[in-house]
Amino acid sequence: MNAMIDLPASASSVVEPRAPSSPLIEVRNLGKRFGDVEVLRGVDLDIERSEVVCIIGPSGSGKSTLLRCLAALETYDTGEVRIEGELLGYGEKNGRRVRASQGEINRVRRNIGMVFQQFNLWPHMTALENVMEALLRVQRLPRAHAQRRANAMLETVGLANKGDAYPAKLSGGQQQRVAIARALAMEPHIMLFDEPTSALDPELVGEVLQVMKQLARDGMTMAVVTHEMGFAAQVADKVMFIDQGRIAVQGKPREVFHDARDPRLRQFLQNYFDRNAFWSRGGEGETA
Ligand SMILES: Nc1ncnc2c1ncn2[C@@H]1O[C@H](COP(=O)(O)OP(=O)(O)OP(=O)(O)O)[C@@H](O)[C@H]1O
Ligand SMILES: [Mg+2]
Repeated sequence: MNAMIDLPASASSVVEPRAPSSPLIEVRNLGKRFGDVEVLRGVDLDIERSEVVCIIGPSGSGKSTLLRCLAALETYDTGEVRIEGELLGYGEKNGRRVRASQGEINRVRRNIGMVFQQFNLWPHMTALENVMEALLRVQRLPRAHAQRRANAMLETVGLANKGDAYPAKLSGGQQQRVAIARALAMEPHIMLFDEPTSALDPELVGEVLQVMKQLARDGMTMAVVTHEMGFAAQVADKVMFIDQGRIAVQGKPREVFHDARDPRLRQFLQNYFDRNAFWSRGGEGETA
């Protein structure tokens, strides 16, 4: 049913052999509730070094909450999140689990970069200043050093000539690329992306996906919540389908997109194709 997703010939076979080591991120039996609502229900996942994991699923299924738990932007209630082997968010005292201090949390998550749907750039700072800000304030780099690194990062995302521009003078795609440069400047070991292209006009999506593809090719470890199925099919080593707070299906793109048996995944993909077919007809006619 999923012939519309273009898989490169190598998609299911080329996974670089990796040095044997623990996963960069390990999640075991993760549970999170907001009041009475159980948003994550026993999530297990591993993200290996240099792996690209794409996370798909219906609205409200818990995708953003999962990413936010990985970055310690949300607390979790049960289970474990380990970053490079270290428990995130909690420590142990007298044999009991206790909440870690903010300083300890910041230390464990220091190698995680995150990019959101909204770019959240400072409007009163230029692109270069936005990228430099955390280098100066968090990493406390000397100004010249921060500036060199920020310029190099802007170049990485194809914005070498936009350092002096204020966000209001940049397109959405350019602003999102500045946000990516800002995260990369901190030299993260993993980048988390939460629907980085869904606030963009369609014609600007490609330039951001291009930057992300290049990052993946350069070996960056990435977890990407996305509705861009073509991107997931091309770039992901592993695709996870989250449904109602659980990882319902995970596998290589081919397994998830072409051999889907799970009825809710099939329904989700069908809705996606119907919507896309609708727009490729110019938005006319009935959606199925
Ligand atoms: N801060 C919060 N307080 C209360 N409920 C929340 C909070 N954040 C998320 N939720 C609820 O948790 C559930 C999962 O939300 P989440 O944002 O993780 O979903 P999602 O899969 O990212 O959805 P979308 O595709 O729409 O972004 C939803 O029912 C949402 O309403
Ligand atoms: Mg979300």
